[in-house]
Amino acid sequence: MTEHITVLLKEAVKALEVQAGGIYIDCTLGSGGHAESILKAGGQYIGIDADPKAVRKAETRLERYGGKTLINRNFSHLSSICSELEVTCADGVLFDLGMSSVQLEAEGRGFSFQRNEPLDMRFSPTQDVTAADIVNNYPESDLADVIYEYGEERRSRVIARRIVQNRPIRTSGHLAEVVQSAVGRKGKIHPATKTFQALRIAVNDELGSLKAGLDQAIELLCEDGRIAIISFHSLEDRIVKEKLRREAAACVCPKGAPICVCNHNPRLKLMPRKAIKPTEQEVLQNPRSRSARMRVAQKI
Ligand SMILES: C[S@@+](CC[C@H](N)C(=O)[O-])C[C@H]1O[C@@H](n2cnc3c(N)ncnc32)[C@H](O)[C@@H]1O
Repeated sequence: MTEHITVLLKEAVKALEVQAGGIYIDCTLGSGGHAESILKAGGQYIGIDADPKAVRKAETRLERYGGKTLINRNFSHLSSICSELEVTCADGVLFDLGMSSVQLEAEGRGFSFQRNEPLDMRFSPTQDVTAADIVNNYPESDLADVIYEYGEERRSRVIARRIVQNRPIRTSGHLAEVVQSAVGRKGKIHPATKTFQALRIAVNDELGSLKAGLDQAIELLCEDGRIAIISFHSLEDRIVKEKLRREAAACVCPKGAPICVCNHNPRLKLMPRKAIKPTEQEVLQNPRSRSARMRVAQKI
C-alpha cells in the first residue's frame, strides 16, 4: 500500500516552535504526518484538507490524540473556517503544498503519467472541472497557455496541437503517450511531467488558492506566531517568497523612488531569510523531497 512520507517533518515542527496548548493550523493535513508531530508536542491542532478521503484516512491515524479538529475544506476559506471555530488567532500555520503520494499513486485520479487512469486530478470531488474537461474542451491556444504558464513548458504549443489532434483523451496513460509523441523522449525525466503538473495546478486553481490562503494565514497569526510553507516547484515558491519578502519589507515603494512614501508597516520577520531545504539524507530516503523548499516567517 502506498504511504505518504512527510517532508521536512522535524524542520517544520521546529520552525513552528510548537508549544503545549498553542493553536496550530495545518492547511494541508494530507496523511497526517505533520499533524501527528504537532499533536505529540501538545499543540491544539486544526487540520484542513480539500480531499475528503485524506481527511478520513488522517482521522484514523490521529484517532488516539485529543485536541484536534479536522476539516474537509479548501484552505482558501481559512478565515471563515477560523471564525466558524471561533479561533481569533493562531500560534502557527503550516502549508505543505501540492498532492500526497497517496493521491499520486493509489487513488486512480490520473495524477501520474506512469499509470493509466481516468484523467480527473481534482483534490475534491465537489470541484466542477476535471483534467479531462480541460484536455478535451479548451481551445488549443488556451490549452497551450495553461501548459506554458503552469508547467513552464517551452514546447507547450506543439503539445497542445498534438493533444487537440488526438481528442478525445480520457486517461493519464493516453495523455502521456500523446505528449511523448509530440516532443520525443530523452533523459530520465518523462516528457509529460510538466504537462501533468500544469493540468493539476489548473484543475485545482492551486496558485489562486495559495495566494488567498497565504493572505488569510498571515492575517490570522498571533503576535510572534510562525508561518511555514513547504513548496515543491518554482511557481509556488515564487509566490511564497515574494509575499513573505513584501510583508517583511520596511518599504514597498517602486525601485528607484527618491524617498519612501508608502508608510508600509512590516508584519513579518523572515526566519531565516533563505529557504530551508531537505538534508542529503532525507533526499536519499525520500527522493520526492528533493524539490522541497520551506520558507518560515514570524509575525511581529
Ligand atoms: C503534500 S500533502 C500534505 C502531507 C501532510 N503534510 C502529511 O504530512 O501527511 C498536500 C495535501 O494538501 C491538500 N491540498 C492541496 N491544496 C489544498 C487546498 N487549496 N486546500 C486544502 N487542501 C489542499 C491535498 O489534498 C493533499 O492532501
